[in-house]
Amino acid sequence: MPKPVPSNGIPRHVAIIMDGNGRWARERKLPRSAGHRQGVEALRGAVRTAADLGIEYLTIYSFSSENWARPPAEVSFLLDLLRRFIRTDVAELHRAGVRITVIGERDGLDAGIVELLEDAERLTRENTRFRLVVAFNYGSRQEITRAARVIARKVAEGKIDPGDIAPAVLANHLDTGGIPDPDLLIRTGGEQRLSNYLLWQCAYTEFIFIPEYWPDFSAEVFRRAVAEYGSRERRFGGLNAQTA
Ligand code: IPE
Ligand code: IPE
Ligand code: MG
Repeated sequence: MPKPVPSNGIPRHVAIIMDGNGRWARERKLPRSAGHRQGVEALRGAVRTAADLGIEYLTIYSFSSENWARPPAEVSFLLDLLRRFIRTDVAELHRAGVRITVIGERDGLDAGIVELLEDAERLTRENTRFRLVVAFNYGSRQEITRAARVIARKVAEGKIDPGDIAPAVLANHLDTGGIPDPDLLIRTGGEQRLSNYLLWQCAYTEFIFIPEYWPDFSAEVFRRAVAEYGSRERRFGGLNAQTA
């Protein structure tokens, strides 16, 4: 008997590692900044496609805790690009019913950027059509460490009993508290690693690594990844339907 084709349908939550901007630019003999600028266009398209496909949550890696290691000029350019993206796109995202949430470390960031991010979150807080989660100054180990610190403080204050620390308690103390785990993670640019992204949250996420550089991430490429996700069999440690 032919194996039935699994159908996971549309992933509810897709997380993306938008990688390859620099290589996209280098192939065109352009400065890396040109790749980042083109990357913003790809991001706008990805949000539209995600909403069109019926995806509810899109989490994007915009700047990692480790990206500070890049040359200062590139770091400034990336921060500036985020500032500009928030300024120019938030009104339209808000009109489209998108709620914006930012995850990552805010301490030590430029006060102007923090204010901009918080304004965007506040403005869009009541929106329910689509959720865009922006990972900025984000590192998963740092996030888990911060959560552990908060929980430890609550234990010290007698607010939590150590025996009550279950996975759900830890999950609720992460920046992503209240957001379902990603069903699908897509990394562009050909690299096959997580680079400190959503380590806890991706315990049972399906991974798709694609060779296209982020600026070339089209609706077609996105749809193909979602179709592949649909054909995967998710077992969560159990057995597949046939074996069971
Ligand atoms: C991803 O593209 C964007 C960020 C990390 C901010 P890269 O800048 O990492 O591009 P490559 O990987 O060098 O090609
Ligand atoms: C991951 O890409 C971070 C973002 C896309 C923001 P990197 O380009 O920083 O990852 P590595 O250094 O290749 O692992
Ligand atoms: Mg990279």
